[in-house]
Amino acid sequence: MSVMSTTDLVDFAVHLGPFPQHIAGNGVKIDISNLNFWYGETHALKNINLKIFEREVTALIGPSGCGKTTLLRCLNRSHEFVPGTRLSGQILLDHEDIYATDLDPPELRRRFGWVAQKPNPFPWSVHYNVAYGAKLHGVVEGRAETDALVEKCLRQVGLWDEVKDRLNEPGTDLSGGQQQRLCVARALATNPDVILMDEPASALDPLATATLEDLIDQLRGNYTIVIITHNMQQAARVSQRVAVFHLGEMVEYGDAETIFIRPRHPLTQAYITGRFG
Ligand SMILES: Nc1ncnc2c1ncn2[C@@H]1O[C@H](COP(=O)(O)OP(=O)(O)OP(=O)(O)O)[C@@H](O)[C@H]1O
Ligand SMILES: [Mg+2]
Repeated sequence: MSVMSTTDLVDFAVHLGPFPQHIAGNGVKIDISNLNFWYGETHALKNINLKIFEREVTALIGPSGCGKTTLLRCLNRSHEFVPGTRLSGQILLDHEDIYATDLDPPELRRRFGWVAQKPNPFPWSVHYNVAYGAKLHGVVEGRAETDALVEKCLRQVGLWDEVKDRLNEPGTDLSGGQQQRLCVARALATNPDVILMDEPASALDPLATATLEDLIDQLRGNYTIVIITHNMQQAARVSQRVAVFHLGEMVEYGDAETIFIRPRHPLTQAYITGRFG
């Protein structure tokens, strides 16, 4: 594949967010080294080395099937629910090995909030959607504490004023954008450090997408966020760093500005300009 000219990249009218560079001084939250992952014979991740920094948004981009979701699953060990998988390498969370034998997987998963591609609230009340995980993990006890947490999380996602009179209605009755913010509130309720988002805006309309992007930017102050997106404009708007994947390998990693304005790898150039993927 030929390296593209500057003109080709200029044709891709990228609108970078206000913070398209890494934030100096932020520590490493997740340190991935020599990570390999297999589904049976399928070698889905090949020798990944990646440091994810705290209080930043890291975007994972790349064509379908390149291993993005698999990498998110390795972070919270949810791949362990898929039979016939194998992993090698190391992942440190706050300098601790998340695959250490003495580590409690449910407690590890509590530290990772997960927001899925399609809003997937439980078929229960708005209130219980937020309260459920927190109660399960013993984050809160009793009615007053639970109510306060539900309100706090719904305020964090800008949903409180919209739903405060609908707390007993099913979460599934909200609009798509509201449901996705409810799912973010549910993820926040267990008091995680890291929020993993797998194409969180792909089912949302442009307005709900913009609201979610604002929310992601605001949450960045307190959480480490890893987001998968197929929308290059979205990656450019919300993230500080971007990792580019291709066929299970990480081909390039850098500040969002570098990846979108001065990508070095021909595969990155081709992917972000829409030549394939
Ligand atoms: N449960 C599974 N069993 C077997 N193979 C799987 C499984 N899940 C994913 N794979 C394979 O692993 C590779 C990586 O898949 P993954 O879902 O991580 O890609 P992705 O980058 O998230 O793709 P997309 O953008 O389409 O969501 C693909 O070859 C896929 O077919
Ligand atoms: Mg995926």
